[in-house]
This record gives sequence, structure tokens and C-alpha cells, in this order.
Amino acid sequence: MTILVTGAKGQLGREAVLALQADGEAFISIGRDELDFSQPAQVAEAIADYSADWVINCAAYTQVDKAEEERELAFTVNRDAARAVAEGVKRSGGHLLHVSTDFIFGGEQSRPYKESDATNPLGVYGQSKLEGEQAIREVLPEALILRTAWVYGAHGHNFVKTILRLAAEREELRVVDDQIGAPSWTSDIVKAMRVLIKNEATGTYQFSNEGVASWYDFAMEIVAGAKRAGFPVVAETIRPIPTEDFPLPAKRPAYSVMSKVKIRGMLDYQIPHWRESLYRMLKQQSGSQA
Ligand SMILES: NC(=O)c1ccc[n+]([C@@H]2O[C@H](COP(=O)([O-])OP(=O)(O)OC[C@H]3O[C@@H](n4cnc5c(N)ncnc54)[C@H](OP(=O)(O)O)[C@@H]3O)[C@@H](O)[C@H]2O)c1
Repeated sequence: MTILVTGAKGQLGREAVLALQADGEAFISIGRDELDFSQPAQVAEAIADYSADWVINCAAYTQVDKAEEERELAFTVNRDAARAVAEGVKRSGGHLLHVSTDFIFGGEQSRPYKESDATNPLGVYGQSKLEGEQAIREVLPEALILRTAWVYGAHGHNFVKTILRLAAEREELRVVDDQIGAPSWTSDIVKAMRVLIKNEATGTYQFSNEGVASWYDFAMEIVAGAKRAGFPVVAETIRPIPTEDFPLPAKRPAYSVMSKVKIRGMLDYQIPHWRESLYRMLKQQSGSQA
């Protein structure tokens, strides 16, 4: 079986490629240089030509705030190129695992969103990802769509790395405490992806680590974990602030925790709590820094 990974230089794509490589699986990894998703006209044919058994589509326009001004590009990459990936997979007769986001939800609920719950994206990024999901289902109803959230890992840019950097530079950090979600470690996402692939799952699934957190809770734990793992930390105070005190161009859901009931039924192990996975990631990172 050959697995094609798009977005292979991103946080999740890189993790997927390294996991496949470590297990001696046949894979093809492609980044922007091999296939530019801002030119969707070329994407279907290129994907079909690779003739992979599975395509894991990790390529996406992920800059939530910049998407508000680069609306057209966000929709081209996240909707039109996603549709083209599905068309390519359909032509070659393979399977598709497409990655989506909790930002398709509006945050009105206070209980975890189920796969079937109504969507209501608050910004361009979320809307473009939602329309990407819809386009994929139109072309390839049996596609596997995996929604995840608050992604961090060893590769690329993410909240954990930002807090590690700030904690080493500043005595006081101010972090939003009125947005609630669930952090997801790339390593755990990829592990779940591989179970879904092995079981030839179809339809929509949601994955994050167990537990919920505000960005403030997450930052507190990152700094505590950073100290334990031996990172340089000068931050002494972490102050919770409301979203209105940290204005950003894109609106975010106040609550975007997703139900994992469906995916738990597919996995033959317990999903780790986000604190446990965060600490494992920090230990790995501190080891690689030493
Ligand atoms: N990050 C999160 O918190 C989060 C949360 C929920 C869901 N997700 C979803 O998870 C998936 C993976 O995200 P990630 O966190 O790994 O993001 P990422 O690190 O930004 O990776 C996205 C990848 O897409 C590539 N890409 C962007 N524009 C492209 C284009 N025009 N042509 C080809 N490739 C292009 C990027 O290439 P370059 O490296 O060249 O820029 C990058 O490698 C996405 O579907 C995202 O929507 C992410």
C-alpha cells in the first residue's frame, strides 16, 4: 500500500511522513514545491497520476487571521484544491483522508460538538475549510474527513512553541482564558489516522486529545512542563485575559470542543489526556535540544 501525504512540510504532514518512514511503509511526500494548491486546475490530474492507495491531505491555508484579507487564496486552497484532490483520488480509485478543523463550529454550545452538529464558522478560514469538506463529500461521498483542533507538535509553528519562546523572554505573559477547546498533539493525531486508514473508515470523524482547556490553561501547563523538562523559563506570571483584550482580525469560537465518541469506538487504545501528551512532547523537544 502506498500513502501520499500532501502538505508534507507542515506540522501534521511532517509528523505523518516521519511515522510512515519509521515503520517502513511505502509513501510519497509532496509539498508546495511539487504541487501548488493555489493552482487547483493542476491538482486533480497530479493526484490521479500518483495513483496512491491512500492520500492524506494535510495541505491547507492555515493562517487564520491572514485569511481575513487573503479570502480568495484561502478558498482556492481549502475548498477548490481540496475538491480537486478528491477528484484526483476518484479518478485513480484510491481512498482519501482529508484533515479539517474545529473552527467550522461557531462556539454557541457548551457541550462537545458531534460530527453531525450544525456548523457556523466565524471567519474566512473556518468557512473555507467547511466548504472544502462539503466539496469533498460531493465528489467522493466515501471520503474520510478527520476534524482536529489546536494542533501542536515538533515541526512547524504552533502555540506551544510560541509560549516556550515567550516564557524564555518575558517575565509576564497574558493569555486568553475565555476560548475553550482541546489541544491535539500531532503524534497522537497521526496514530489515530493510521488506525482509521487500517480500518478503511469513511465519513466524518473528530479527534483531539482528551480533556478541555482554555488557551490560558494550556499556557500554564506549557510553562510548568517547560520548567520540568529543563527549558529556560523567566516567566513568573501568566495572566488570564478576555478575548476582547487581545483583539485579532479573525473571530474564534468561544467553545470548540469536539465529541470523540465516534472515534473512540474505532480506536483500540485510550486517547491520552492533553496534559500527558504535552509533557511527552516537551520531554522529546528538550531531549532534541540537548
Ligand atoms: N494548526 C492547527 O491548530 C489546526 C487545527 C485544526 C485543524 N488543522 C488542520 O490540520 C491540517 C494540517 O495543518 P497544520 O497544522 O499541519 O498546518 P501547517 O503546518 O500550516 O501545514 C499546512 C501545509 O500546507 C501547505 N500549503 C499551504 N498552502 C499551500 C499551497 N498553496 N500549495 C501547497 N501546499 C500548501 C503548507 O506549505 P508550506 O510549508 O510551504 O507553507 C504547509 O506545509 C490542515 O488541514 C488544517 O486546517 C490545523
